[in-house]
Amino acid sequence: MDILGIDIGGSGIKGALVDTTTGTLSSERIKLLTPQPATPEAVAEVVAELVHQFQWQGGIGCGFPAVISSGVARTAANIDAGWIGVNVEDLLSAATGCACLVVNDADAAGVAEMRYGCGVGRLDTVLVLTLGTGIGSALFYHGQLFPNLELGAFPLKGGFAEHYAAAAVRKRDKLSWRSWSKRLNLFFSEVDRILSPELIILGGGVSRKSDKFMPFLTARAELLPAGLLNQAGIIGAACLAAERLAVVD
Ligand code: BGC
Repeated sequence: MDILGIDIGGSGIKGALVDTTTGTLSSERIKLLTPQPATPEAVAEVVAELVHQFQWQGGIGCGFPAVISSGVARTAANIDAGWIGVNVEDLLSAATGCACLVVNDADAAGVAEMRYGCGVGRLDTVLVLTLGTGIGSALFYHGQLFPNLELGAFPLKGGFAEHYAAAAVRKRDKLSWRSWSKRLNLFFSEVDRILSPELIILGGGVSRKSDKFMPFLTARAELLPAGLLNQAGIIGAACLAAERLAVVD
């Protein structure tokens, strides 16, 4: 079954049709710029434009960069504060005329990595991190997701981990790949103290450049770049929508 998967990020809003039986894209990917400021109304308009460009009328799965409980955004670390308390599912369903399922963006990416990427067959503790504007995290044990884990908000160096080690920080502070990797290594060792993951999968846009930084990374856990690269969020959101929207119908 095809579902439109959408990944709302700090810089881009990306979408593609996903064949949810195989976890592969069944259309080209379209990326529109995230409006600034990224208020609920402005983002909903861009999502509606994306849906229009696909001429899409079915279900939609959407990854969103915040804690999402029952469709409602509970945090706004890297997005407009106006999102807190907004029912993102209702907003996007109204804007697009399509039934929308909304989940945390890293949870969506994690689900896709576990089903179709590097996490396939792994029953031990797997942590999927998305490195982008912030740091997203999704934790799995026996393939089961523990939702809305916010490791980007983990205290590190007097602030939050994502303010110290996100991919955007590397660019902003013009850090070398080696210096940025050192920051990630510190983050991994702190995370290891409390979660003891056996595998850490690194996703987000920067996963395309894994050859630049993977050689500098060290962790007790096995480290792998995301198998689905930056498409995991789109694929995972669509797969979850295929299951959960079907239950609602
Ligand atoms: C948000 C997370 C999100 C991550 C990646 C963080 O700032 O708090 O919910 O998963 O960014 O987008």
